[in-house]
Amino acid sequence: MAFDIEMIKKVYAEIPGKVDAARKFLGRPLTLSEKILFAHLHTDQALQGFERGKSYVDFAPDRVAMQDATAQMALLQFMQAGRPKVAVPSTVHCDHLITAKTEAKIDLEKAVNESKEVYDFLASVSNKYGIGFWKPGAGIIHQVVLENYAFPGGMMIGTDSHTVNAGGLGMIAIGVGGADACDVMAGLPWELKWPKLIGIKLTGKLNGWAAPKDVILKVAGILTVKGGTGCIVEYFGEGATSMSCTGKGTICNMGAEIGATTSTFGYDESMERYLRATGRGDVAEMANGVKEHLTADAEVYADPEKYFDQVIEINLSELEPHLNGPFTPDLATPISKMKETAVANGWPTKIEVGLIGSCTNSSYEDISRAVSLAKQVSEKGLKTKAEFTITPGSEQVRYTIERDGFLDVFDTIGAKVFANACGPCIGMWDRVGAEKAEKNTIVHSFNRNFAKRADGNPNTYAFVASPELVTALAIAGDLTFNPLTDTLVNEKGEQVKLDPPSGDELPTKGFDVDDPGYQAPAADGSGVKVEVSPTSNRLQLLDPFAAWEGTDLKGLKLLIKAKGKCTTDHISMAGPWLKFRGHLDNISNNMLIGAVNFYNDKTDNIKNQLTGEYGPVPATQRAYKAAGIGSIVVGDENYGEGSSREHAAMEPRHLGVRVVLTKSFARIHETNLKKQGMLALTFADKNDYDKIQEDDIVDIIGLTSFEPGKPLEIVLHHKDGSSDTIVANHTYNAQQIEWFKAGGALNIIRRQVAA
Ligand code: F3S
Repeated sequence: MAFDIEMIKKVYAEIPGKVDAARKFLGRPLTLSEKILFAHLHTDQALQGFERGKSYVDFAPDRVAMQDATAQMALLQFMQAGRPKVAVPSTVHCDHLITAKTEAKIDLEKAVNESKEVYDFLASVSNKYGIGFWKPGAGIIHQVVLENYAFPGGMMIGTDSHTVNAGGLGMIAIGVGGADACDVMAGLPWELKWPKLIGIKLTGKLNGWAAPKDVILKVAGILTVKGGTGCIVEYFGEGATSMSCTGKGTICNMGAEIGATTSTFGYDESMERYLRATGRGDVAEMANGVKEHLTADAEVYADPEKYFDQVIEINLSELEPHLNGPFTPDLATPISKMKETAVANGWPTKIEVGLIGSCTNSSYEDISRAVSLAKQVSEKGLKTKAEFTITPGSEQVRYTIERDGFLDVFDTIGAKVFANACGPCIGMWDRVGAEKAEKNTIVHSFNRNFAKRADGNPNTYAFVASPELVTALAIAGDLTFNPLTDTLVNEKGEQVKLDPPSGDELPTKGFDVDDPGYQAPAADGSGVKVEVSPTSNRLQLLDPFAAWEGTDLKGLKLLIKAKGKCTTDHISMAGPWLKFRGHLDNISNNMLIGAVNFYNDKTDNIKNQLTGEYGPVPATQRAYKAAGIGSIVVGDENYGEGSSREHAAMEPRHLGVRVVLTKSFARIHETNLKKQGMLALTFADKNDYDKIQEDDIVDIIGLTSFEPGKPLEIVLHHKDGSSDTIVANHTYNAQQIEWFKAGGALNIIRRQVAA
């Protein structure tokens, strides 16, 4: 950890000078987001008046975090870069590969057996290259980062879209693909489009049933899944300072669900309390020394409209608990409206399972408030109607809540405690009967609820809520139950009402843990061997992608015209496929199998233009590849929303797709495609989406004079002999065009390291 303290000292030593210089340069007060961004400009990046939403800027993040599913590819790529050690403090967290089924201990043992090869690989690469390694069972990346590494005013990138969780401790923390992590670990600048800024003023104070989760559920309802795209969301106001640090983490965590680049809060006493409670009093002291630089200048919050691109105000005193869903996290319904909304939409109202925990909501405060409700079951003679599960976010939280008797209380309502891992949140839930695909409802305190996300069943209606509300609804077993107004009938036939939840922000006896599950890297890793078997199913060393051939791309077959929502889950499904995250060829067998074919409304069923037959997407693409023919994927709005997984870009690249043409992209996915040397283009006229026909052969014209801001031309050759010429926009800057030409960013990194 000493390495970290030195790094934090340096950040705090430099922040006053850097912030002053930026303020002077711009001649105006600065928001918190701007202060952190300016304080982290890469040394090669000159201070300028960057244009929001337009300028690409080089940054030097302070640290990198990786989860096991994405770390495999990030580290396979890092190994290719040829460096002896990571350039910034970095960690790997084994949380995504553990299937939740029976209970923590049994499930964990099974995962350790099943994924031994992957864990051994990650442990040895970490050991060799100076990376901190958190073993399976140690916890979920974002909770472990909040407890150990996040610090106010810092900048971090992580290979997981919920890296943004660390905004709860005043960071700018951004979810990226493994290729970006590879850049930063290799000491290269990391590029980001200078974001727009959304200010959210929180007035009043949470009370009764309302929780921090309800703030972000309400914000998601206002902004929708696209509303935060390209923006940093900065929360401020008395409502912000009155909330716990972990509550702020929950709000920032789900900023990923509105597409935001990240979210953050200014440094305050709740953060100081959390730093001290998690053994980082030294960081709190240092932060106190520069605290005016760890929040916006006073003028900004006094007149936010002047400094933010959009301002939203929410009065926490009036905030109602919300349930968001089903199938999308922005469909927000206040609890008082759920009865009529559920009936009107025909949503199944019987709740089968309530699930709490995950990286979003497993703080001590969350669990203590949920336990205050679970206690009332026996006190009031009730019986819990739905199944109930808990996935703690870290061993430290699990150990502490066990010590404080919370797990015993949950036990009395029949709860199952799963391993400290992602489990049901990422589809790693071996739920009994899910294969029957029955229509059913679950409520959870996670962040995402796309179809099939939790249990693989497309007919599971998943609603997102605070852990308190999930617990109350699981007790009632009824989606239409409003604990603020409704009563329940107890075992004696009496009408009883649940008291509002209560709990402790932090454990009064402090956090405790026996074995946190951490492996420090070797001081000198040069002798550590990293083995990858050439016959492995799980891991495959990478070969560089081929460089651009130097000509326009002609004769591309349309692979699929995807209809509607096409998230990274649709492009590279999680669940059972997670185990192939380190093996590019094997995982490519899931490419786009969740995307809906525009022409027949089916998934994984497209026309092979060579045979006229319909078949699975990966097999069809492999047929094109075998024939030496490139292809193009066409997508709808916000293509690639969801997660940061670069597999969604690497798989099409590996199988020979050359271009992805959409109405619009999710930011991370667009960058990932660029990094892999793909062409990511958008329709200049969105109506041109309708001109794409099933048997089209496509030419991309203008690549020999490919330059920033200059659109490309696309010629669609239709089966009947006619053709259409349309215009495609792109957001490639000069550097990204070099990536395209070299066949991927990694090819350039290798060249630079070798030089
Ligand atoms: Fe894991 Fe779900 Fe969080 S997959 S990292 S618990 S969003």
